[in-house]
Amino acid sequence: MAKKLDNRITKIAASQTIEVDTAAKKLIASGVKVYNFSCGEPDFAAPAFVRQSLVKAFNQGKTKYGASLGDPVLREEITRKLKRDNGLSYNVDNIAVTNGCKQALYNTFCAILNEGDEVIVYSPFWVSYTEQIKLAGGRPRIVRTDKNLEPDIQRTRQAIGSRTKAVIINSANNPTGMVYSRQRLQELAKMFIQHDLYVITDDVYEKLVYDNTKFYSIAQFMKAAKKRVLVINGISKAYAMTGFRVGYVAADKEIIGLINRLQSHSTGNVCGVAQVAAEDVLRRGDEFVEQGRQIFQKRRDLVAGLLKQNKRIKYIEPQGAFYFFIDISEIEKDSSKFCQQLLEQEKVATVPGVAFGQEGHVRISFANKESDLRAGIKKFNLFCKRY
Ligand SMILES: Cc1ncc(COP(=O)(O)O)c(C=O)c1O
Repeated sequence: MAKKLDNRITKIAASQTIEVDTAAKKLIASGVKVYNFSCGEPDFAAPAFVRQSLVKAFNQGKTKYGASLGDPVLREEITRKLKRDNGLSYNVDNIAVTNGCKQALYNTFCAILNEGDEVIVYSPFWVSYTEQIKLAGGRPRIVRTDKNLEPDIQRTRQAIGSRTKAVIINSANNPTGMVYSRQRLQELAKMFIQHDLYVITDDVYEKLVYDNTKFYSIAQFMKAAKKRVLVINGISKAYAMTGFRVGYVAADKEIIGLINRLQSHSTGNVCGVAQVAAEDVLRRGDEFVEQGRQIFQKRRDLVAGLLKQNKRIKYIEPQGAFYFFIDISEIEKDSSKFCQQLLEQEKVATVPGVAFGQEGHVRISFANKESDLRAGIKKFNLFCKRY
């Protein structure tokens, strides 16, 4: 008899957002019209100039093995970005280039956690945090956000104990679209410094904020404890370059050294031509980002207008990212059942709240074209009405 497979991986769940997206794409491939509001991916193409970046990279011979931590030219560009956009001072040796923010986060957890260490994760949370923490041997400590979906100060204070090693902050937030206020981040920073915690800030949606909302990275308020801060960011969302798989970690040299050891034995360097494209968009992609931001803001307003007609749901209008996190508990508490029936009956794909640690909710992504949003949200409203 084969030996039993029983390890860390058998104890974690596969990503539900990817599972729903795969199911929706399978239906689409079989010729069914599906309104796919499940995936967190801009529907438009990467900046056109990236084509030239790729040709340039190819001609430069960036088709070979490179340094595990990334091309120094890109790492240098990342330090400039962090200074320009966030007022953060880092050197090249504080930067690790990774396969998307996903690997940046995973390698970070592996670098800082020991068996049984706790990491505070605010719920609702992005699906991969808890599973990555478990894979790295740690334990997620879930703390509910307050009624405005910001990290709750009182609950955070109560959750911090002798095993607490780190905390993860994600603003603008997936799945809620909340952008944390300066005051709340400052209060949290003070508490985290006092307790000597590692603070991981996932800033991947920083450029997708709407109206006059201002984005702050908690790293800006943690300069007194810079050694404990890890900034995660990348090019996936703002530059519509999800498939390039370029992300990064900015952190203390010692932590970057640990990430280097891990990457040098696991993935090695991120695809060389993708790194050149990343360097180019960080340097000259601002106009593209602003155009995308305006498109998303318009779509957010469109969806909000349609959802207002639905009297059976509740939500807080998102200020950032591209998601509505909708309370459907009056209609159905079991979010998986709701999403499954919605897909079967109306061909509208959404992600159940349970995947983000909160039952009775669904996440709708508005990274879709307007005509689909209009038709799909109308179907969603009709479904809720007759449920
Ligand atoms: C909050 C958050 N962090 C990280 C990621 C991963 O980003 P990447 O595609 O760069 O790996 C995502 C992607 O959905 C996300 O929503």
